[in-house]
Amino acid sequence: MLGRVNHVALAVPDMEKGIAAYRDTLGAKVSDIQRLPEHGVSVVFVELPNTKVELLEPLGENSTIAAFLEKNPSGGMHHICYEVEDIIAARDQLKAGGARVLGDGTPKIGAHGKPVLFLHPKDFFGTLIELEQV
Ligand code: CO
Repeated sequence: MLGRVNHVALAVPDMEKGIAAYRDTLGAKVSDIQRLPEHGVSVVFVELPNTKVELLEPLGENSTIAAFLEKNPSGGMHHICYEVEDIIAARDQLKAGGARVLGDGTPKIGAHGKPVLFLHPKDFFGTLIELEQV
């Protein structure tokens, strides 16, 4: 079912500091800030030779990462995103196996304009999993 790692996402309390750490301290190429109000986050992409790291900062009142940052005030790894070829087939197979798909199970359009779903972290060793159809 799983393809490549598409990205690893880190929640950061302060995007400017996150950008400075990756661009200036670690010397990586960092994209411009993209605001995704429907997901409640601002995001930048750190471009690496084999994958991406995304930095997420809360945007707006009901951000999906606000509670995570309350528990992890200095930031932390928020989710890992795996590529799948067919997100509906993947969802149906996972649900049949007892895994919990977050929300109503309908894929949303993610930061790259592709359909995404999230899987409950308690079913996968404490790690939130994002699936992205590529
Ligand atoms: Co993601």
